[in-house]
Amino acid sequence: MKNTVTGILAHDELLKEDIIQLLKTDVKERNIIYQKSSEIKEQYVGKKAYYRGLIEFSNICYKDCLYCGIRAGNKKQERYNLTDEDILKAAKFAHENKFGSIVLQSGEREDKEFINRIDNLLKKIKQISNNELGITISLGEQTEETYKRWFESGAHRYLLRIESSSKELFEKIHPVNKKHSFERRLECLYALQEVGYQTGTGVMVGLPFQTLEHLADDLLFFKSFSIDMVGMGPYIEHQETPLYEFRNTLLPLNERFNLTLKMIAILRIMMKDINIASATALQAIDPAGREKAIKIGANVIMPNITPTIHRTNYQLYENKPCIDESADDCGNCMEARIHLAGDEVGFGEWGDSKHYYKRQKI
Ligand code: 5AD
Ligand code: FES
Repeated sequence: MKNTVTGILAHDELLKEDIIQLLKTDVKERNIIYQKSSEIKEQYVGKKAYYRGLIEFSNICYKDCLYCGIRAGNKKQERYNLTDEDILKAAKFAHENKFGSIVLQSGEREDKEFINRIDNLLKKIKQISNNELGITISLGEQTEETYKRWFESGAHRYLLRIESSSKELFEKIHPVNKKHSFERRLECLYALQEVGYQTGTGVMVGLPFQTLEHLADDLLFFKSFSIDMVGMGPYIEHQETPLYEFRNTLLPLNERFNLTLKMIAILRIMMKDINIASATALQAIDPAGREKAIKIGANVIMPNITPTIHRTNYQLYENKPCIDESADDCGNCMEARIHLAGDEVGFGEWGDSKHYYKRQKI
């Protein structure tokens, strides 16, 4: 019985070989997975999608990830850094439009000036929103002390993608040096959990050198780490990065897209009560990409509220969508998309990870 998709899904625990088989499914079989994952979503986290207004406030980065368009080594990239005023304005927009939460994201920096600036911004955002706006930050690897400081100043969720849970693959997509280390990435994830953040991680799907085994291990990694939130998007090559050289070895874009959807659906089946984001990169491949992900298991969506003039400069990958809409347009367009997927928007709610609270009780 265990060899059919239905047979595999009838078991509570998915083993690595089961996951690989599910990742290999054809169109007909994968619909069985999607049916199950949407039922689980409805049952455990409801038919609701939560907004996180995304503010990509700076593309200045001191790292050199081999896949990323804003890596320090890309000298063709113009750099920007929003003023505090602009950031606060975007936060205010999110608050007034009942987004519930924002995500502050930027390239990586670990200098004192940056750390202090974030600290100050977090306090101000809490202040101007009467403590109502939830704040997620996605600011890379930092010391535990910095994580603690930012937590105490008002951030309560942190996103730090592992990118790949395989050390070997991680080291193929990053330079191996003091600035880039798989061990440090893991230590940071542990530190975030220790400090008390709702902790989010994720991987890119369809990377060069990546196999279905790697992807199955990634899902098992999220589970064993008892992660609260996951964001997974397809890898999309960027011309001004070293990994571009391997573009001919990649799966076609539509296959990377389908594989990402399968990863999301399988993860929803494995980790029923976590928050799963519908990654923006899905929409770079399919205009309806993000609503498709909501339909089969994702429950978080991140409308871009970065001031429009800077959006073209935050191109981690090519063909990034929504770079010429205003924040207003993004919110409206998202709501329509979520309704299309059959969900409601959780306006004015933080939409915390249910898994996090369960984890606190153990
Ligand atoms: N394709 C897809 N996703 C990318 N990211 C960075 N570069 C790319 C790319 N070329 C993702 C990484 C990072 C997140 C902010 O964006 O997973 O963690
Ligand atoms: Fe900036 Fe990877 S290139 S963190």
